[in-house]
Amino acid sequence: MRRVTGKQVVEVGAAEFDAMVERHDGVVLDVGTGDGKHAFHLARERPGELVVALDAAKDNMRKVATKAAANPKKGGLPNLLCVWAAAERLPAELRGVTELHVLMPWGSLLRGVLGSDPAMLSGLAGVCVPGAKLLITLNLHAWRPPVPEVGEHPEPTPESALVDLAPRFAAAGWRLDDARYLDAEAVAALSTSWTRRLNSSRERFDVLELTGVIPS
Ligand SMILES: C[S@@+](CC[C@H](N)C(=O)[O-])C[C@H]1O[C@@H](n2cnc3c(N)ncnc32)[C@H](O)[C@@H]1O
Repeated sequence: MRRVTGKQVVEVGAAEFDAMVERHDGVVLDVGTGDGKHAFHLARERPGELVVALDAAKDNMRKVATKAAANPKKGGLPNLLCVWAAAERLPAELRGVTELHVLMPWGSLLRGVLGSDPAMLSGLAGVCVPGAKLLITLNLHAWRPPVPEVGEHPEPTPESALVDLAPRFAAAGWRLDDARYLDAEAVAALSTSWTRRLNSSRERFDVLELTGVIPS
């Protein structure tokens, strides 16, 4: 897999990745990590777990990768791995994921999590262990007005997501358990860079959270 270390991109082989997995108590995979702010936050909060921040665009991850590479005494995070890859073509070395996060997806990643690219959801399930947890947050502005990637899907609600999206997830090996709107405070707690782009209006919720699991 291609690891972004800051200015450089280096190859991490299966043996090296396996050793990292073995050294930690779990693996969180943040797909479409963007600038990696959420992944960095997680890695700091959960030093015992390996956090893999993955994005199809490498340049936005450079800053966080540089910070993570610093001496741990100076805020470095040896448990954060920034990986340059697309969700459609996950690195062959990736395995052992105990928690999958996909926050505010756009583009082909949004299509994928809406089930319009079943291979993506199955591929993501394939790198996870049985019992792995799933967290997706959808930025509902993607439907206001609808971007092309949402296709035929109307804006999901907590009720409709469990009816319309759950079967697509089930076909890929995921059980969708819950769907709920997040308030501004809950969105801020995720440390996603997209918080500031969302409305603070309380009349309309902007983010729908989906949670689930790979049944063991
Ligand atoms: C709106 S940003 C969200 C970034 C971050 N999750 C956050 O909440 O701040 C969407 C990210 O998804 C990435 N992305 C889109 N399609 C992707 C794909 N097929 N595979 C991997 N990353 C993808 C984009 O490069 C972008 O960084």
